[in-house]
Amino acid sequence: MEKQEIRTFGRRHGKKLSIRKEWLIKNVLPRLAPQKTENADILEIGFGAGEHMRELAVANPDKIVLGAEPFVNGVAALLSAISDDNNTIKPEYKNIRVWPDDVRLILDKNKFQFSEIWILHPDPWPKARHEKRRLLNHDFIMSLIKHLAPNGKIIIGTDHWEYYDWILSQIANSNLDINTNVTEIITTRYQQKNMAHTTEPRYIVISLPK
Ligand SMILES: C[S@@+](CC[C@H](N)C(=O)[O-])C[C@H]1O[C@@H](n2cnc3c(N)ncnc32)[C@H](O)[C@@H]1O
Repeated sequence: MEKQEIRTFGRRHGKKLSIRKEWLIKNVLPRLAPQKTENADILEIGFGAGEHMRELAVANPDKIVLGAEPFVNGVAALLSAISDDNNTIKPEYKNIRVWPDDVRLILDKNKFQFSEIWILHPDPWPKARHEKRRLLNHDFIMSLIKHLAPNGKIIIGTDHWEYYDWILSQIANSNLDINTNVTEIITTRYQQKNMAHTTEPRYIVISLPK
């Protein structure tokens, strides 16, 4: 990622963190840094408060699940949910790793090979003048493809249909395998919060050509 790469996320900080969450950020987050010696198998980009990432961790106990999220309050919410009263990581979440920043910064420096890359409700940046902030542009998707293990897949979900069409247009001339025939709905906090105002989510599953 170039130093001047355009920012794709909104806020980094929300309301003031509780003392416990401040403590978790300072003391627990460093322990969840991705390790040079292990491959992460599953990546979630922009995990929000981490509900879906926790589901991934529980469903895949033998796999390392890495999440990237620059919004500190979201990271703190995840840490709070995966820690017990003694502030140690609950056993079912031992396979979670956290990168509390822009995902592009970690992908560039590592040779991860993911079996799954999840991006649920990426910021849609609906105003035309903000279009350049959209994360899922052609170049970024192609950079993700390089991190896919054989048979790996990228799963994208958005309830912003214009963004959905825009993402498809970004990869229209590629030779990638693109499946838009996904009927299962994956519920996330963002989607629930917006349910009254937005449309049904739509999904795109991208994999390497067979
Ligand atoms: C609309 S929220 C959706 C959060 C969550 N996936 C959900 O569905 O509840 C989009 C999230 O993507 C994160 N994000 C945006 N650009 C990112 C980037 N370059 N790397 C990692 N996360 C990013 C934002 O900080 C934000 O929390």
